[in-house]
Order: sequence, then structure tokens, then C-alpha cells
Amino acid sequence: MAADTRDVLGRIDREKSAYLEELKDYIRIPSISTDPEYKPEVRRAAEFLLGKMRAAGLAAELIETAGHPLVYGEWKQAAGAPTVLFYGHYDVQPVDPVDLWRHPPFEPTEEGDNLVARGATDDKGQSYAHVKAVAAMLAERGKLPVNVKFLVEGEEEAGGEAIDRYVREDGGKRLACDCVVISDSSLYAPGQPALVYGLKGLAYMELKVSGPIRDLHSGTYGGGVANPLNALCHIVDRLRDAETGKILIPGFYDDVRPLETWEREEMAKLPFDEDAYRRELGIREVFGEQGYTTRERVGARPTCDVNGIFGGYEGKGAKTVLPAWGGAKVSMRLVPDQKPETIARLFTDYVREITPRGVTVEVAYLHGADPVIVEAQGPIVDAAMEAMREIWGAKPVRMREGGSIPIVSTFAQVLGVPVLLLGFGLNDDALHSPNEKFNISHFYNGIRSVARLLDRLAAS
Ligand code: BES
Ligand code: MN
Ligand code: MN
Repeated sequence: MAADTRDVLGRIDREKSAYLEELKDYIRIPSISTDPEYKPEVRRAAEFLLGKMRAAGLAAELIETAGHPLVYGEWKQAAGAPTVLFYGHYDVQPVDPVDLWRHPPFEPTEEGDNLVARGATDDKGQSYAHVKAVAAMLAERGKLPVNVKFLVEGEEEAGGEAIDRYVREDGGKRLACDCVVISDSSLYAPGQPALVYGLKGLAYMELKVSGPIRDLHSGTYGGGVANPLNALCHIVDRLRDAETGKILIPGFYDDVRPLETWEREEMAKLPFDEDAYRRELGIREVFGEQGYTTRERVGARPTCDVNGIFGGYEGKGAKTVLPAWGGAKVSMRLVPDQKPETIARLFTDYVREITPRGVTVEVAYLHGADPVIVEAQGPIVDAAMEAMREIWGAKPVRMREGGSIPIVSTFAQVLGVPVLLLGFGLNDDALHSPNEKFNISHFYNGIRSVARLLDRLAAS
């Protein structure tokens, strides 16, 4: 390894357990953005981060929004050097089902090399690595080799409206930079880092099917009126072909950019053990759209899934009742060049058309995110690939991910610079699930990678 980052890497080694304790304090703040009850805690997490940025030597402030605050920080004293914008999110997902956690979700617990807690990997642990890398460099050298800006949001898990408005209004003035660095994804596999160049978009819908004005006795009325839950199941069943996995909404695939030949070739080369995948998930066989491999379907083909379905009697035992209404939440993961608004409209029209007689349907578009493919070539991308290779011991593979980070397409559009998705998590980190974890060694390697990247970018 080139000698020039050794000073900072040495400091990181000496101070890493203190960094870990700070991360634990950060994680202890239950910043659940979607639940209004946690609003003060979300702000507390923003203030915690603000304090750590200032302590590192950044000029930092909270930017108030209609939703949760943004945390902004900068250090701009490397005249003539490139500028890096770091993005992350300090909010987390809800913790339910809470009884499946081995420890309280906001009490970070070490289990071997894992730190188990909500937010450990998504995204407090990963994005705090950015802050500590910059802090270590400033402490060691009193300066940075490049200019840095941080923009950390508090509502990524709830749709990210505030940051989108902020970035569009800014138009690349305050946020002007040469690249964006995001750590909110995973390595391809243990020991094999990845550079993610594609993320899916999202159209999240809610359906409500209504029938009679109240729940009815299913004997005295059954056969006389349409059952809203039966109607709902009819609708849901017609969203996708159970045999081929094809989505049946007319026009759904019209804007889908086909996978390029090189992408299919690269994906086919990635090691993927389908048996291990099945075993890990406890499923007998994989399922998805016909004509594509599992990797292709997860990373690069659109999907349509029921996330929840409700209504009628859900308690213990048998209650004979004809429900007055039924509902479902349905998400569609999108790929370039599908547009969430268009897909939401196609979905709504189709659902209206296939709704059985005797009930009414309401369809709501809850939120959306644009799919994105970012630049995966050029000197900045090369610097990132090299920095990752040096720290993790293997050259990153380029890949597309099934998850969404709504602001990424806005960054790419508005700032017009490469967006580097350098994740430090693992696929089995259980993000959004009970017992979410982050490998402590990955936290440290994340810090090292960012330090190394900054030195490499200064030289590029
Ligand atoms: N960090 C994830 C997205 C992700 C996961 C990217 C794994 C790459 C690999 C992010 O916090 C997330 O959960 N996003 C939501 C977005 C939604 C709420 C708009 C998602 O994908 O469900
Ligand atoms: Mn995340
Ligand atoms: Mn998430």
C-alpha cells in the first residue's frame, strides 16, 4: 500500500474502540422516522451527529425542513483539490416484531464480531464511518487532502421528501462537488467488496376495498352481498402470474430498459450458491420472473409484492363474519426507465378495471422513488475501486441492487457527478428485521476505506 495513508490508518487502529463506543451511543437514540411518537428522538440523533461533526473540526449545522432536520457539515480548506459529498441517513426502521430480538433493539450488543442493534448497519454504522475517517485525518494531520461536505438525512426510511426538495432547490450551489460517496449497501459477499451502480425505484400503493356499511353475520348475509376480502384477493391474484412471475398490469414493462449483454455476463460470473441461498432463507425453491436468473431478478428486473393484507377477523378462534372492508399494501420495485408516477397510474387504472362488481375500491399512491443507474467508469470510480481493493483485499465487483435510496437519482440529476455506492454491510445483516447487525471489523474497514479514498482522490 502506498505509504501516504499509514499515519491515519495507524491512528484509526489506536482509536477504533473509542469510535465503536461513540457509534453505540449514536445507536442508542431510537430515531424511528416513520413514527411521529419518536420525533424528539429523531432530532436527538441529528443533534448527536451535529456534535460529532463539530468535534471532528467540521463547520456543521442543522437544516430545518418540513420533516426531520438535515445535518450538514463541511471542511473546505483544500484549495484546488476535489470536493467529496458524503451522504447517509441517521433515521432507522421500526423494531417490530420486538419479541424476536435477542436484546433490546436500541441497546447495541456485541456478539463476537457483530454489533447487534437497530440501525447498526442501516445506516448509522456505515455512515458514521465517513465521519470518523474525516475526524481521524483531521486529528492526525490538522487538514484533509480534499474538501468534504456531509449531508445526512433523517427520513430516508420514510420516503425522503425533505432532502429531495433541499437538493433540488440548492441546484448544486452549496452542494457543488466532484463526487458523492454513499455507504448504505452491502459487500457482494464476505471478503468481496462491491461497487453498486444500480438501485431500484419504488411505487408504494395501498388498496382499500369496501362493501357493506358494517361487518355482517356471514350466515344471514353470506351469499347476498359481495365480500370485500374475497374481492381484494381476486385483485391481488391478478397482479402477477403465479406460474411465470410476469406482472400483469398492462404497460408495466413498457419503459423497462433491457439488461445489457455485458451486465448479464458480469452477473453470471459472480459466484452465487443458490442452494445456500435457499437454505439460509428456509425456502424449497427460488421464485421469480421466468427467463432471468435469481441475481438478475433481484438486481435488475421490476417486481410487484404484497407487503401486508388486512381486514376481517384476525383474532383467535373462529368468528363468522363478513367483513365490511379489506385492505392491502403493495410495493412495486422499479428499474430504469420506469417512472413511479406512471406505474402508480397504470396500477390504479388496472385495479379499477379488475375490481369485481358489488364492492368499491380506493387506491392510494403512498410514496415513490426513482430507479437509477449511476456512472460506473472513470478516474473517480477507479480511485474508489483501488481504495476498496487495498483495504478489503479484493477488487470490488460492479453490481446492481434491489434496494432503493430515493435521493440517489436526484443527486445524479442535479449534481451531475459520479455517485459512489460503497457499502460496508453484508447481505445477512438483517436490515429492517429483528437482530439487525453490523460486523465491527467492517465498521473499522469502512473508516479505513474512506481515509484511503480521500488520499487517492487528492492524487487523481
Ligand atoms: N439502505 C437501504 C437500501 C439498500 C439496501 C440499498 C440494501 C442497497 C442494499 C435503505 O435504507 C432502504 O431501506 N431503503 C428503502 C427505501 C424506501 C423506504 C423508499 C427500501 O429500499 O425499502
Ligand atoms: Mn439505508
Ligand atoms: Mn433501510
